This record gives sequence, C-alpha cells and structure tokens, in this order.
Amino acid sequence: MMNKKAALAPNLNNLIEMEKLTLSFGQSHPLFDEMNLTIKEGSFQFLMGPSGAGKSTLLKMLYLDQLPDKGTLRAFGLNIRDLSMDQRALLRRKIGVVFQDFRLIDNLTALENVSLPLKVQGVHNKQRQEEAMELLEWVGLKDKFNAYPPEMSGGQQQRVAIARAVIVRPKLLLADEPTGNVDDDVAMRLIYLFEQLHKSGATIVVATHNHALSAAFPYDEMMIQDGKVKVLKKSEEN
Ligand SMILES: Nc1ncnc2c1ncn2[C@@H]1O[C@H](COP(=O)(O)OP(=O)(O)OP(=O)(O)O)[C@@H](O)[C@H]1O
Ligand SMILES: [Mg+2]
Repeated sequence: MMNKKAALAPNLNNLIEMEKLTLSFGQSHPLFDEMNLTIKEGSFQFLMGPSGAGKSTLLKMLYLDQLPDKGTLRAFGLNIRDLSMDQRALLRRKIGVVFQDFRLIDNLTALENVSLPLKVQGVHNKQRQEEAMELLEWVGLKDKFNAYPPEMSGGQQQRVAIARAVIVRPKLLLADEPTGNVDDDVAMRLIYLFEQLHKSGATIVVATHNHALSAAFPYDEMMIQDGKVKVLKKSEEN
C-alpha cells in the first residue's frame, strides 16, 4: 500500500499533477471543487465537457496562466506556487498553446506569425522560413503565407495558430477547440499533425466538445463533471 508521504511526492512520470484543486472565480458554486487530476508524460488526451464546463479555464491552469484558489498544481515536477513569474515564463516555453480565440498578431503575415516562436528562440531567418512554410503547407495554407490574419477566415486563422503552436515542438501541447472552425476532413488532418508531435514524445491535450472527433481516435477522454475531472479510458495503453 502506498503511504501518504509517497503519494504527495512529485512523480516524474506525471507531467501535470493537480491535487484538491479549487477555483471559484468568486462564485458560491466553484467551477473546480477539490479536483484531482494527473496527466502522464507522453499521453494524448481529449478534454471534454459542454460549453461553460471549464475546458478553457483548465487549459489556462495547465498553461500556468490561471492559478487555483486552493490546492496544488505541479507541472514538470515543480509546484507552481514556488515559482517566480520569470521561472513560470521559462516553463511556459515548453508549452505550445492554441487559444480558442487564436491570438495571432494582426500586422504579421501568416508566415511571420508561425515563425515567430523560432525567432524568439534565436533560430536564423532561412531555417525559420523553411520550417514555417512546411507547416503552413501541412495545414493547407501554403498559398496564404503572405496574408495577414484579418484577411483570413476563422478556420484559416485557426490553422495558422496551430502551426505556430507546434513549430517549436513543445513538450506539452494545449489546444482549445482547435478544430472548431474547420471542416471534418481538415479537423482529422489537424489531429494527425498532433499525433506526429505525440509520436516524438510530446504530451497532448485537446479540448473539444466534439464527441465524434474524440471517438475517431483511441485516446482517453477527460470529462469535466460537477467540479471534477473524470477520466474515461478508451484503451489500456495510450
Ligand atoms: N476570468 C474569469 N472570471 C470569471 N469567470 C470566468 C472567468 N473565466 C471563465 N469564467 C467562467 O468559468 C466558466 C467556464 O468557462 P470556460 O471558458 O472555461 O468554459 P469552456 O468549457 O471552455 O466553454 P466553451 O465550450 O464555451 O469554450 C464559465 O461559466 C465562465 O463564465
Ligand atoms: Mg472554451
């Protein structure tokens, strides 16, 4: 039997550990209520739940952008309450994120948006452009490389945001309704892109309320329900 002390020590196979985590936004009925959740390193999970369930909020906590009111949040083996803002920012470099509202930079082209994270990392121009073009081609936007976000449709902007999130090959990829604005065949292609990243060892969390999409893949579902997260296993190994 596991003793109490062992249970509280960080487990390095777990990329994320949440223990008795509570978040209320000042409401009497908390959104998350003493919720426990672990996300294993190298796993692929769908995060499910109806509109307003807390999917985006949970992703923001995983991105270390929203702290819980109470409880423990450990990421990459570190308790985030022990970290300074700078340390948190460093940790965030290992995380790729596709926001529900994309958050592209309007006065940069698609190509510049996608290659920006590489610029921050100091990768030289030619290599940046090559890698960004390759990803734009993958998401079906090669001919839009020179377009600015306001000139693109919602689904096109979403695909630029996805290319930008995966370009640095993050250890943890968080995608918030990444297929919400695209056709079914494009949605499948985008999940295949995440699968490529997953095969190279990344941990992937995809929030969606699309059950058909989740059903098309063998990955587990994390379901937000009554302030807790329930894990529904689709297979033994993942
Ligand atoms: N910063 C905030 N301040 C107050 N309430 C918030 C805040 N952020 C989210 N909420 C509330 O938390 C609840 C969950 O919101 P969230 O955006 O996480 O839901 P969601 O599951 O992503 O929904 P959707 O499927 O519509 O994107 C909502 O009731 C929302 O109003
Ligand atoms: Mg949301």
